[in-house]
Amino acid sequence: MTLPASGSNGTEGPSIRPAERADLLAVVRIENASFSQPWPYDAFERFLGEPGFLVAIRDGRVAGYVVADVTENFGRDLGHVKDIAVHPAHRGSGIGSALLSRSIGVLAAQGADTVKLEVRESNEGAKRLYREFGFEPLRRVPGYYDNEEDAIVMLRKLD
Ligand SMILES: CC(C)(COP(=O)(O)OP(=O)(O)OC[C@H]1O[C@@H](n2cnc3c(N)ncnc32)[C@H](O)[C@@H]1OP(=O)(O)O)[C@@H](O)C(=O)NCCC(=O)NCCS
Repeated sequence: MTLPASGSNGTEGPSIRPAERADLLAVVRIENASFSQPWPYDAFERFLGEPGFLVAIRDGRVAGYVVADVTENFGRDLGHVKDIAVHPAHRGSGIGSALLSRSIGVLAAQGADTVKLEVRESNEGAKRLYREFGFEPLRRVPGYYDNEEDAIVMLRKLD
């Protein structure tokens, strides 16, 4: 069996590239369809040029995105996956996995030794995805989402 090349633009896998200004409206549309408290346009705009802001292209259109960056934390470089979503019509076809995989590679290349993320306690699909990628629950942050729902902080060590 031949596996699709990562980043190929065929029917198998999405092509993944850094986000550009022209992608932002599509990104915001997916964000609005995915979250009850979506990021506004200018929050994405601030991450343009950040290596961890990536979009997945399927059939010539933005089908999903991830926003990740590296910050210094007590002298160590900590990667942070801040936002990830796939267009509802394209979920379940490997795009989220492809985005997460690529973003972790970018964070590692930027020197991160650990990657963290927050996920809604009720978001079973996302928690499963993160577990498959080796993230483990670290702690709970009560009321992280608008004082209404707890976040689970998940961590993955790189190397
Ligand atoms: C979470 C999300 C990004 C996953 O993207 P996706 O392209 O559907 O993910 P994939 O097709 O790569 O699926 C990868 C794995 O994720 C898990 N998964 C994703 N969505 C799931 C769901 N609704 N139910 C159960 N498992 C799910 C599965 O383990 C799946 O592996 P499998 O196909 O081998 O069973 C997407 O569902 C989404 O945009 N959700 C809304 C936004 C969101 O919740 N973002 C995460 C915020 S922390």
